[in-house]
Amino acid sequence: MTQLSAAQTPQDKPADGGRALYGGKSTRRITARDITAAKERGEKWPMLTAYDAMTASVFDEAGIPVMLVGDSAGNCHLGYDTTVPVTLDEMTMLSAAVVRGTSRALIVGDLPFGSYQEGPVQALRSATRLVKEAGVGAVKLEGGERSHRQIELLVESGIPVMAHIGLTPQSVNAMGYRVQGRGEEAAQQLLRDAKAVQDAGAFAVVLELVPAELAAEVTRTLQIPTVGIGAGPDTDAQVLVWTDMLGLTGGRVPKFVKKYADLRQVMGDAAKAFADDVVGGTFPQEEHSVH
Ligand code: KIV
Repeated sequence: MTQLSAAQTPQDKPADGGRALYGGKSTRRITARDITAAKERGEKWPMLTAYDAMTASVFDEAGIPVMLVGDSAGNCHLGYDTTVPVTLDEMTMLSAAVVRGTSRALIVGDLPFGSYQEGPVQALRSATRLVKEAGVGAVKLEGGERSHRQIELLVESGIPVMAHIGLTPQSVNAMGYRVQGRGEEAAQQLLRDAKAVQDAGAFAVVLELVPAELAAEVTRTLQIPTVGIGAGPDTDAQVLVWTDMLGLTGGRVPKFVKKYADLRQVMGDAAKAFADDVVGGTFPQEEHSVH
C-alpha cells in the first residue's frame, strides 16, 4: 500500500521494462507517458473507478493499470443523485485514499463541477490540490473545445490531463443523459472536441455514450488514446464504474455496463446470515471468543 517516492520512480523508464500495462510486473507507478506508449504499441487497457483505499488495493493487486477517482463518487459512494454536488474537498479526500491504497496504478483524480469552469487559473488551483494533497498522477476534466484553455495551462504547469467528451454528466441539467454525437452536425462537433483536447495537450480522452462508429473514427483520428464508456469496442481503453460492473449499484444500470459479479446479492445475503446468527444466538461461538 506504500507509494514509491519520486526518487524511486525514474520517469523515463517504461513501466515493467516496457511490458504491458495490464499483466506487467509491478516495478513502479504507471505514468501518463506509459499510457502514451501503450497507444504507440497498439495495446488496449482497462480502467476502473475507485473511491476508497481497500477497493483500490483489490484492483491494484488485480493489475488494473489506471484508476479513476471519478466524481461518479457522488452517485456511487456519497449518496447524491448526480455528480453536480460533489466538492473539491470530497474529491481530494477520496483521491488521497485511493492513492494510499495502491502502489502501481496511475491514479486520475476528477475535477468536480465548479472547480474549473471559471477558467484556467481556477482549474490550476483545483488540480494542484489533487496533485499535492492527494498525490494523484493526473487529473480529469469534462469538455472539449470549451475546456481547451484549462487543459493547456494544466499541461504547461506539469499536470497530465485526461479529457472527457461526449456525455459529460456534470452538464446533466443542460444536456440530460442522452447519447451524444448522433447526426452529422453533432458528430463533427465531437471530432472538433476530440482534436481540441489533443491539441491542448491531454494525454487521453474519455468518450462517454457516443455511437460506436463515431468512437472508432475518433480513435483512428487521434494520436492520444481514447477511453470508451458506452462507446463501442474500438476505443483504445475501456472504463466502467466499479459499483456497476461488480453489481453493487442498486436499481437500473446503463445498457453498456457488463456485470461481472453480484456483490449486492452477496453482501445482502451475508448481512442477513450475520443477523440471523445474532438473533438465533449462534454467533459468536467458542472460536470467536477470548478468555
Ligand atoms: O466520474 C466518472 O466515473 C467518470 C467515468 C464514467 C468516466 O467520469
